[in-house]
Amino acid sequence: MNDKIQFREDEVYILGRKFVPLINGEKIRRRIVELSKCIENDYRDKIPLFLIVLRGAIFFGVELIKNISIPVNLETIRAKSYGQEMQSSGKVDFELPNCNFEGKDIIVIEDIIDTGLTINEIITALRRKNPNSIEIACLLLKPESLKTDVNVKYLGFEIPSKFVVGYGLDFAEFGRNLQDIFVLSEE
Ligand code: PRP
Repeated sequence: MNDKIQFREDEVYILGRKFVPLINGEKIRRRIVELSKCIENDYRDKIPLFLIVLRGAIFFGVELIKNISIPVNLETIRAKSYGQEMQSSGKVDFELPNCNFEGKDIIVIEDIIDTGLTINEIITALRRKNPNSIEIACLLLKPESLKTDVNVKYLGFEIPSKFVVGYGLDFAEFGRNLQDIFVLSEE
């Protein structure tokens, strides 16, 4: 039996920690379609270059992009700051992909913005590549955790400053494939 993840009624236990439902998968998918249509409308005369921040944003990014019918370009970037912990290490590891960003209309896709350090460092690095524009699409934002100003043009949901898993978000690499988003229980 798999003891890493266990389900009990609507709760999920990952490595023995209890998580309870926060946002239902259907509601997430409906919101993503709304964001896709906004992007489609805003970029009608452009070809947006989506930059998905791996790994967590894969799920959100794929759902967002597949609901967009204008031509798009796609790149990925690996960024990591959490390791096995529930709090940011404060140090962000990433390397921009080796592609031409000059004159491009970039939309960086994130699953979650917590302190804002990761997205800020990525945007700062991208600005040096002379793109035409940079916007952010992000599924979840924790406004009370922000340590820096971040302007998210396409936002799914604001959430409280609590640890969440599911829909791409992990706890020690588990829980990414949960359909709903769950929050760590305070019990
Ligand atoms: C998560 C998330 C963001 C970042 C947000 O990545 O995907 O990239 O943390 O946190 P911040 O706003 O405090 O910088 P993580 O390091 O957990 O890697 P993962 O996407 O591979 O899970």
